[in-house]
Amino acid sequence: MRVQRRLDLPAAPPGELAAGGGAGRRAAARAGELTVPGVVAVIGAAGRTGRHVVRLAHAAGYAVRGLVRTAEQAQAVQALGAVPVYGDLKVEWEAVLDGADAVVWCAGTGRDSTSTEIGRDALIAVARRLMARGPRRLLVVSSKSADHPERVHPALGDALRAKAVSDAFVRGSGLEWTIVRPGGLTDEPGTGQVTVGMDLPGGKIAREDVAAVLVACLEDPRTVGQQFEVLGGEQAIAAALACLSAR
Ligand SMILES: NC(=O)c1ccc[n+]([C@@H]2O[C@H](COP(=O)([O-])OP(=O)(O)OC[C@H]3O[C@@H](n4cnc5c(N)ncnc54)[C@H](OP(=O)(O)O)[C@@H]3O)[C@@H](O)[C@H]2O)c1
Repeated sequence: MRVQRRLDLPAAPPGELAAGGGAGRRAAARAGELTVPGVVAVIGAAGRTGRHVVRLAHAAGYAVRGLVRTAEQAQAVQALGAVPVYGDLKVEWEAVLDGADAVVWCAGTGRDSTSTEIGRDALIAVARRLMARGPRRLLVVSSKSADHPERVHPALGDALRAKAVSDAFVRGSGLEWTIVRPGGLTDEPGTGQVTVGMDLPGGKIAREDVAAVLVACLEDPRTVGQQFEVLGGEQAIAAALACLSAR
């Protein structure tokens, strides 16, 4: 997979190779048995989903760069394992891409009031930049019902319509994209269990589980070119993604 590269690390302590998750993978990499991923740029890194992405991607062995707007955000993101890079999606943000092999988009409106500018225009600008100079891999947190704003509260309509436009742009970009469309986000701890599908009934999912899905997608090239909805559910994330790509 394109985002993977070999790390030159010291030998692993015995026993660590058997460990699961990021520790096991990094240990295997130290033993020269595994290629581990490269550098991931997280846009929206200080947001509530973004912080989970930073932490989980770092734990999985990625070098992480996170776009931040304030010193407080920089400190928080750094504490989770990322290199903070200052920028603003409405002004200048490209430095976060330096050396990146993949980009995870989880920006939302945050302190900005206009969801269309961030959810549509800024994401399209990021995709255009990647189309011109890379990296090619782009993972996007969109939203369930983005193509059916009539199904949700009218207050959410503009944000959903904005996401539908930028999602369509990303799908036509020629990039190695994955679009993840979660239901209502909660700050409950993640369960690692989800339901994925193309048109799921209404429901919720923990931000931590959305982040875990994104990191799992980074590691699974079968998710390139896939758009899907995701809710909290009863299937382990890797298994849910495998079913998706088997369709
Ligand atoms: N809320 C839901 O139920 C729901 C459901 C489905 C999908 N989603 C989508 O899921 C994604 C993550 O949501 P979330 O609630 O976890 O996000 P969040 O906590 O609101 O975080 C959004 C992040 O984007 C950053 N951001 C906003 N404008 C920016 C700009 N101009 N330049 C740089 N950074 C900027 C914010 O920075 P600041 O803090 O500095 O503003 C913040 O760190 C969003 O795309 C959201 O639309 C949400």
